[in-house]
Amino acid sequence: PDGTHVPALVVGTGYGGAVAALRLAQAGVDVHMVEMGMAWDTPGPDGKIFCTTTQPDHRSTWLRTRTKQPLSNFLGFPIDRDIPRYTGILDAEDFAGITVYQGRGVGGGSLVNGGIAVTPKRENFATVLPSVNPDEMYATYYPRANATLGSGLIDPAWFETTACYQYGRVGRKHAQRSNFPFVFVPDVYDWDYMEAEAAGTVPRSALAGELLYGNNHGKKSLPKTYLAQARATGRVAVSALHRVTSVAPAGSGGYAVVIEQLATDGAVTATKTVTADRVFFAAGSVGTSKLLVRLKATGVLPALNDEVGQGWGDNGNVMCGRANHLWDPTGSLQSTVPCCGIDNWSAGGAFAEVAPLPTGIETWASFYLSITRNPNRARFTWNAATGKVDLNWQTAWKQPSITMAKTIFDKINAKEGTIYRTDLFGVYKIWGDHLTYHPLGGVVLNRATDNYGRLPGYPGLYVIDGALIPGNTTVNPFVTITALAERNIDHIIATDL
Ligand code: FDA
Repeated sequence: PDGTHVPALVVGTGYGGAVAALRLAQAGVDVHMVEMGMAWDTPGPDGKIFCTTTQPDHRSTWLRTRTKQPLSNFLGFPIDRDIPRYTGILDAEDFAGITVYQGRGVGGGSLVNGGIAVTPKRENFATVLPSVNPDEMYATYYPRANATLGSGLIDPAWFETTACYQYGRVGRKHAQRSNFPFVFVPDVYDWDYMEAEAAGTVPRSALAGELLYGNNHGKKSLPKTYLAQARATGRVAVSALHRVTSVAPAGSGGYAVVIEQLATDGAVTATKTVTADRVFFAAGSVGTSKLLVRLKATGVLPALNDEVGQGWGDNGNVMCGRANHLWDPTGSLQSTVPCCGIDNWSAGGAFAEVAPLPTGIETWASFYLSITRNPNRARFTWNAATGKVDLNWQTAWKQPSITMAKTIFDKINAKEGTIYRTDLFGVYKIWGDHLTYHPLGGVVLNRATDNYGRLPGYPGLYVIDGALIPGNTTVNPFVTITALAERNIDHIIATDL
């Protein structure tokens, strides 16, 4: 309620926020989490909490009147559909040169993501977080993050036989025939549950096209892991459909936090101010960057340094599909959960996930999300004329990513005598180069903050999410976001409380 005082307020309930809340609560601190998205704990009229990717309804999309699917076309035809405007689960946030996909709701990106839980190779870590000691990350914080997230590998024997990973086996065959290292990647999906889905003994989720708009079963998203543990301490409260709009030094010490309550059509129904001794920014790379850039530019937090807003990257994301020969079907039943990839990072700067295309029919398509060593970095700035924060990323900045992804797929196409699909992102368009799933940076560790996420000039203000990571993790990012948050909160609890 308005006027409340809390010891610790956490903005956002994704990976960084969930780690902060759990560890603070375990240290005896009462925590209030504020989340602009919905709680996603109540079934809709169809008895399900989440809708599928093949039949998206109002629950699918954050405050739009038409879906904006990452794969916009199929056989050249647009597949988006009109929906009622609603505080749905997947946000496609448009900037001038890129659309940034993000999860909205209690659990943040864990609600909508593929659950792929990859720890970067240790030899690459110095490029991921140059100011962080790798010894403590690989001995303590990566293992702690992976254990608490519940990541695990597919049973190799099941992979060889199940129909739903035919697409993975085709991906492996083509990778290996072109001499690329093929790797299995861990995931937080419950693999035993998925095997039961295939056997027909439990309700289907990964095998029913559920993922981008939430999984009704099987995925160990944050509400089942970190956030469940946090709530069990009895010290963590969560306010869903509440959006933080300002954090300002309070005369009495601590910070005054302004919070808007939202209705499911996005309308603001109330504005509240609470005070907090400490505020942890965990609104995600984009959310935290936008808040801090605006608060600095509008004089609310003027002492924030000039690094705030800088160093944003897209983790080099680029997508493409390949058209296989008729003797290489990828299967009409595809698990939405990826389990393998092609590692050409050291030679070509690309790590490609073999991704599903769960259309329910045979497409003879292989689909890939590549993570590449794209060097381009963008900057967030305050636009006083529009009252919005802009991002100066340009579409052409994806060219290095395309070049790196081609080191894999040009070679595979040449070997197999196959071609790229041109019907998935528009009419005659090969590359999905207009988007990212992996926003990183904007408030970079040891530049905009100190080496533990403290904001200089404002004791008690911390950044603890993907905004800290300077633009690339070499692999899918959430394990690194989680492990870094574990490291930082350990240090903060030991020294600041
Ligand atoms: P995260 O975005 O998780 O959480 C931020 C939260 O803050 C959100 O819930 C948001 O609503 C809330 N918020 C924002 N502004 C606010 C405000 N002003 N007030 C209150 N709340 C606010 N990664 C990976 O490792 N493996 C994978 O398989 C995938 N797959 C994938 C698929 C798709 C479709 C997407 C969109 C993303 C992925 N990712 C992924 C990326 C991964 O999900 C992402 O890196 C993390 O969720 C980022 O964690 P953070 O803690 O930084 O923020």
